Amino acid sequence: MDERRPIVVTGASRGVGLELVRHLVAQGQPVIGIAREAPDLQDPLFRFISCDLSDRGAISALVQNLVQQNPGGLVNNAAVQTEGDTVTLSTAAIAAYIGKELDVNLAAPLILSTALMPVIAKGPEGFICNINSCLALAPKTAAPAYCAAKAGLSNATFALHELARAWPGLLVSEVLLPLVDTDMTAGRGKGKISATQAAKGILDGLARRRTAIRIGGARVLYALWRLSPNLARMVLRGARPGQAGHVRRVGS
Ligand SMILES: NC(=O)c1ccc[n+]([C@@H]2O[C@H](COP(=O)([O-])OP(=O)(O)OC[C@H]3O[C@@H](n4cnc5c(N)ncnc54)[C@H](OP(=O)(O)O)[C@@H]3O)[C@@H](O)[C@H]2O)c1
Repeated sequence: MDERRPIVVTGASRGVGLELVRHLVAQGQPVIGIAREAPDLQDPLFRFISCDLSDRGAISALVQNLVQQNPGGLVNNAAVQTEGDTVTLSTAAIAAYIGKELDVNLAAPLILSTALMPVIAKGPEGFICNINSCLALAPKTAAPAYCAAKAGLSNATFALHELARAWPGLLVSEVLLPLVDTDMTAGRGKGKISATQAAKGILDGLARRRTAIRIGGARVLYALWRLSPNLARMVLRGARPGQAGHVRRVGS
């Protein structure tokens, strides 16, 4: 990585994002963290910018600010997942949560990536890294908007990868994570990896300039999905598509 230019990490207040920040600054890398709440982290290499990524106006202002900082990389990590019985919600409540999940999980990474790509590409080792989930491959009924956004992010990452060909040396990378022990998965799921393990895997993949970074159980799930999408869905959900019940979960 180009150590003179800061790396932008969204969702830097907790979970995987905060671990990414901690590891990067420990390596001497300047980082700009984005979230609504600031993390409890004091480090001369860390700068925090508060931004609600579901607010398009706020993202425009953020982009203007970030362009001035001349970033050398971007990790689109922030995401929100609402689980529950969405069937019984009011139409207004459904519209609000679906809109927010599509905005934070899909629109924000796309806006930041396309707006910052020409700036990031100025350096020899620029990168854009989108953090994705096995639910992009095998959706679950409890979080349809999250799954739709993550599937969209996967397709968008491919498009960004093609777009990046205009700048030789610019890396566009997608990370597929298994279940990680963070606020997002609190109280559910088994066999989770830690946020530290996730962050180390992501940074190792980026250091190797990998376009596809699949960590732990996500590697197995992806291989299975290539073989048979239906089989992958059955393994992830622990049931035939459409059936309830869980036997084994490897991704969130
Ligand atoms: N945990 C898992 O099992 C798992 C599995 C596969 C993929 N992933 C992916 O890994 C990434 C990190 O997830 P995580 O588990 O670390 O989640 P997390 O612990 O819930 O953290 C989510 C981060 O996103 C930020 N965020 C949420 N809404 C935001 C908004 N409107 N504006 C700005 N920032 C916002 C949060 O900050 P504020 O609340 O302070 O704004 C927080 O820093 C996500 O892309 C997720 O989809 C996670």
